[in-house]
Amino acid sequence: MGHFVTSKRDFRARAHSNPLNDAEFLVPEDPCSVDWSPFIPDIGTRSIDFVDLGCGYGGLLCELSTAFPEKYMLGMEIRDRVASYCVTKLEELRRLNNGKYRNIGFIRTNCMKFLPFYFPRSSVEKFFICFPDPHFKKKKHRQRLVSLRFLSEAAYCLQPGGMIYIVTDVEELFHWMNHQFAQHPLFLKKEQHVVMQQDVLLPYLLNHTDEAQRMKRRGQETQYWNVFQRK
Ligand SMILES: C[S@@+](CC[C@H](N)C(=O)[O-])C[C@H]1O[C@@H](n2cnc3c(N)ncnc32)[C@H](O)[C@@H]1O
Repeated sequence: MGHFVTSKRDFRARAHSNPLNDAEFLVPEDPCSVDWSPFIPDIGTRSIDFVDLGCGYGGLLCELSTAFPEKYMLGMEIRDRVASYCVTKLEELRRLNNGKYRNIGFIRTNCMKFLPFYFPRSSVEKFFICFPDPHFKKKKHRQRLVSLRFLSEAAYCLQPGGMIYIVTDVEELFHWMNHQFAQHPLFLKKEQHVVMQQDVLLPYLLNHTDEAQRMKRRGQETQYWNVFQRK
């Protein structure tokens, strides 16, 4: 990878950003006319395959970029300084690794609200939701990313047969998210043993997010996960 100087310490950010605030995000008017090439230089006229929702510091997509060079991927992050870190880190990776990391990009936005403004109907292959903010207090549950409304928007953007992956270390949130999916008419839960046998992405999701790396450093192991398929 070469010598890497961008440090998370230079991009300190508040722990949370309220996704219910109507902060001024500029969103595309028409998802079909978005030119992604300023963010994802090699994309041409192709559409985005994988989307990391609440990507944090972007570690997962940086790993996936070289593992799946034929896929185009976007990380969405609401916190300004964290999204800036992703962009700076990506510029540095591109500079140090000629011709690589040109299939991924990062933007700052609120993915709880604006998905259909970014992705045309039936275009996305996979959404990743890794370690979403748990918002433990009951009155803050409205701020949780996965809700019935959110799933309808994600289902609209997903290809038929497309997938949503969820990973968390918070058991209560895991049950909550499973419950939202179970109530939604457009998703089916994949059998975990089938995913473990067949899905080449799963090991990346369980081992290469920034949060999974942090858990590993602390000796924590339990990650709850599931994969849901759009009908
Ligand atoms: C605990 S971090 C997990 C980061 C990363 N997915 C990982 O697994 O390492 C959750 C991230 O989601 C971001 N986030 C929360 N709500 C969001 C929203 N509505 N839109 C975009 N990003 C959001 C937070 O700012 C934070 O960086």
